[in-house]
Amino acid sequence: MQALDGTMTLIETVRSRRQRLAELIDFPVVLWSGSTSSRNFPANTFPFRASSHFLYFAGLPLENAAIQLEHGKITLFMDQPSPASALWHGESATPEAIAEMMGADVVYPLSELQTFAAGCATIPVQDARTSQQQTQVLNRVITNELQGRDRELAEAIITLRLTHDGAALVELRKAAAISVQAHKAGMAATRTAKTEADVRAAMEAVMIAHNATPAYSSIVTVHGEVLHNDRYHHPLHAGDLLLADVGAEVGSGWAADITRTWAVSGKFSPTQRAIYEVVLASHDACIAAMYPGVEYRDIHLLACRVIAEGLVDLGILQGEPADLVDMDAHALFFPHGVGHLLGLDVHDMEDLGDVAGYATGRTRSDRFGLGYLRLDRPLQVGMLVTIEPGFYQVPAILNDPSRREKYRNVVNWERLTDFSDVRGIRIEDDVLITETGTDVLTQDLPTAIADIELLIQPRNT
Ligand code: GLY
Ligand code: MN
Repeated sequence: MQALDGTMTLIETVRSRRQRLAELIDFPVVLWSGSTSSRNFPANTFPFRASSHFLYFAGLPLENAAIQLEHGKITLFMDQPSPASALWHGESATPEAIAEMMGADVVYPLSELQTFAAGCATIPVQDARTSQQQTQVLNRVITNELQGRDRELAEAIITLRLTHDGAALVELRKAAAISVQAHKAGMAATRTAKTEADVRAAMEAVMIAHNATPAYSSIVTVHGEVLHNDRYHHPLHAGDLLLADVGAEVGSGWAADITRTWAVSGKFSPTQRAIYEVVLASHDACIAAMYPGVEYRDIHLLACRVIAEGLVDLGILQGEPADLVDMDAHALFFPHGVGHLLGLDVHDMEDLGDVAGYATGRTRSDRFGLGYLRLDRPLQVGMLVTIEPGFYQVPAILNDPSRREKYRNVVNWERLTDFSDVRGIRIEDDVLITETGTDVLTQDLPTAIADIELLIQPRNT
């Protein structure tokens, strides 16, 4: 990792990133910030979020702007704000002032971009309007199947963004701290909350109060078996577990991603406690095994093995844990990967597909227990990843006749019914790889049941 002091100014930080890019590639690049889309009439738009690649090198969340990078030099392209914009949105900084903030010597209107575009590589943006501009300006079709210089650019950006500089870590720590506070607020709110929505509101209120936003659609649900549940209408009942996967994004774009699962009543039942301890053992074993050079895939397999061991001890699975993992029996209850890269995106750089998550020459497995592994690279100092093992009773998996048949002899289906009050448990932390092991950015949020129960407090009903 290139060490950058977190106290560096914005200009110093983005200059250093651009210089490092110039050391990796010798051709010019254009990166667009993107634009927002309208919801129903043109002026009613979805919230804008600048492209992460643009943010990384420009440092400012501009809308409808582009930067051209060549040999470490940056040129900004954006239009003067219209009089209507000043009327509806207030005065904004001039393009010249913005150029100065990011260390650009010159700024041109967007209409000039085409004259600088010859031979430029780019990364596709997500919105249709900018995507059209990219095709027009570069005079070629830009697709997600990155080829030639675009692919080389993507690989260079991945090299830089895989490990975080000091300035990024300052922002990532802020996002983590806000998210920790949001989870504590969610736990405290559970005492009087009537629905999932009440808890979500308490959690997101903390972000809003810090001028942050959710980094992804918050998951706050008593149906934790729905991995990315985005509904919040269920009432909370005393016997339920509540799974909250909620993380903040700070104004500079850097994100956090935390999951905790707690008992609505404030007290885990014996069966909830038993499974929670299995998931927690898996989470702790993974973090303890993480060092520079260790393969993330091996951390995933370790998570699977500890879950298999725990389920054998509880009488849910039968057999040797290593054999159970080899046959993917753990995936009946833990069907996803143990985590992913985290940075400017909650699943960092997944807009580039598996080019970011998978080292050169590696591809996704089609095994049931490995297909959702999002990261298959050796750990490096400065890399930030999530560790998020879980246990779920997903009807679509457990009631699938072919899986029932395949795993007939290794699952004690009758014993499993004793755990019907456990629909889904996940425990997720954000883990920075350091020279000596790890620094868990979200460690101020407890994972132990006793500590979590203290934060929830019993309900009156
Ligand atoms: N926070 C959601 C996920 O990691 O998929
Ligand atoms: Mn995650």
